[in-house]
Amino acid sequence: MIRIGRPLPELPPTKARPDWVEADPRFIEEATRRAMAREGGGWCVLDDSRKIGETPRKLRVAGRDLVVFRSDGRVVAAPNGCPHMGAELHQGRVENGRIVCPWHGLALGLEGHGRWQCLPTHDDGVLVWVRAIATETPTDRPILSPRPARFVSGVVRMAARCEPEDIVANRLDPWHGTHYHPHSFATLRVTDKDPDRLALRVSYRAFGPLVVEVDCTFHAPTRRSIVMTITGGDGAGSVVETHATPIHDGRCAMVEATIASSDRKGFRFARRVAPLLRPFIEQRAARLWVEDVAYAERRYALRTGAADDGIRSGALRAVPGSDRGAAAGARRR
Ligand code: FES
Ligand SMILES: [Fe+2]
Repeated sequence: MIRIGRPLPELPPTKARPDWVEADPRFIEEATRRAMAREGGGWCVLDDSRKIGETPRKLRVAGRDLVVFRSDGRVVAAPNGCPHMGAELHQGRVENGRIVCPWHGLALGLEGHGRWQCLPTHDDGVLVWVRAIATETPTDRPILSPRPARFVSGVVRMAARCEPEDIVANRLDPWHGTHYHPHSFATLRVTDKDPDRLALRVSYRAFGPLVVEVDCTFHAPTRRSIVMTITGGDGAGSVVETHATPIHDGRCAMVEATIASSDRKGFRFARRVAPLLRPFIEQRAARLWVEDVAYAERRYALRTGAADDGIRSGALRAVPGSDRGAAAGARRR
């Protein structure tokens, strides 16, 4: 193992206890319970901002099928059933900023039509959101953690047979990192164990024997998101936002945005070649999430007694270390 990148200050020595002892299920459950008690503002992530264009898409959120498309740059999300006779609008086309029903040509736009009304949306430049949970106290905008001003980003989206809390709980158990993802993490030590904020020192594998060591924190700003922030070492200020959007009972979408920054001189160049870097960023995130989705689905099956049929959103097709398996999982929508 060869360390590259900025050296970090030595950590005080501690009595090393095995990770399975440190990973106290009661602590993880308490941290998850506290995250679930936070506000959500009604907002859910739909997808990567780049993947919402003028071609209408059907996306299911919290039990409702929505048609989603872009009109004059603005994201429109509305019920997918036509208010006339129920045709699926995502099978129509967008003309002059309006979705035209494929059955009888009704053109629907932002002004709505009777009970067919658009939902509030927000495009933060990386992710597109919809305010779709009517039971929560609404906020004008999604609740976001600070992001770096200049960044290179990548987004992965995967469907999972679990609920948002299982996705969040997975992230609140960092102790599985080196055991479950040995291809990505060489060492990992939790340096501060607070149920509202975990701090870690982690070395992740950059290439072959080369590892980069960073300090980072995990916190859940809402009940459906968890954010890793790099606080020391190379890339300080970079964040990885993991969001979980309910699809319907027992199914959700995990959408993760890696928003990477650096104060190194070469970063300006990296931003210029961002389209070349993006697939690499997304492939690495997908490789982890193929495994973490399996973890979240297992947690869901254990806590609900749901049938664990072994078909886990691409997880079974993934061979640790294989980007082919990860990419297959990432394509699932
Ligand atoms: S069903 Fe849409 S216009 Fe008739
Ligand atoms: Fe993980």
